[in-house]
Amino acid sequence: MTEPIIVGNWKMNTNVSEAVHLAQQIRQAAEQSGVDHQCSIVLCPPFVNLSAVGNCLRGSTIALGAQNCWTEPYGAFTGEISAAMLRSVGCEYVIIGHSERRTIFHEDDALIRQKMLRAWEESLVPILCVGETLHERQLHRTWNVLESQLEQLLAIEERRNPWVCAYEPVWAIGTGIAAEPPQIEQAHAFLRALLDAHGCTHVPILYGGSITPTNAVAIFSVPNVAGGLVGGASLNADSFVHIIAASIHARATNR
Ligand code: 13P
Repeated sequence: MTEPIIVGNWKMNTNVSEAVHLAQQIRQAAEQSGVDHQCSIVLCPPFVNLSAVGNCLRGSTIALGAQNCWTEPYGAFTGEISAAMLRSVGCEYVIIGHSERRTIFHEDDALIRQKMLRAWEESLVPILCVGETLHERQLHRTWNVLESQLEQLLAIEERRNPWVCAYEPVWAIGTGIAAEPPQIEQAHAFLRALLDAHGCTHVPILYGGSITPTNAVAIFSVPNVAGGLVGGASLNADSFVHIIAASIHARATNR
């Protein structure tokens, strides 16, 4: 059984000194407790802090990731960052299609597909986020939404590349109300079947949305949950390392 994957999405938080301090604290706590060798840990700080955090992580097992990238390798795209640039500062992962990008910045599935292709071209592992809004859930449209968010991607040949899928119900993000284990189980079973049917048996599915040290073991014990994408709780080293430890504990117990 592969080890769990825990990704910290710092969103638009931390200045450079705060980012360095947090990365150092996480590295130290992860190494002291030994969890760094039992879990794939990824930190995704804001763009401007990638280099500094990358330096803090050098020589550790903790990987660096970004929160977004643009579709083109270089050129006149004021304010954007390319996947090649991310690679050049040591990123191995990039989050694509986060619900905040979809809603606030109007990213659609076609653009997200382009970003996935670019990430693969630069040998980054994209973490593709999917998830329904509360309104969509109330209308019983969850499965249609998840399927349509993955449809364009599953149609392309490049899917043999490594990537990670993250189920993040929009209503659970930053609200303090995580999805209940039965809801997570249903969604992950649906996504697992969909991915498997398209030959993506190698793609792990993470859960994201209000994961805390308190609910982490219950969430990571749900079948088909390969790890977590953690927002708020990843900004505190103790909480984040607790969540990492919970993923290892759940994996060992449910083996
Ligand atoms: P929270 O953990 O703060 O709910 O955020 C989840 C998320 O959006 C991770 O990408």
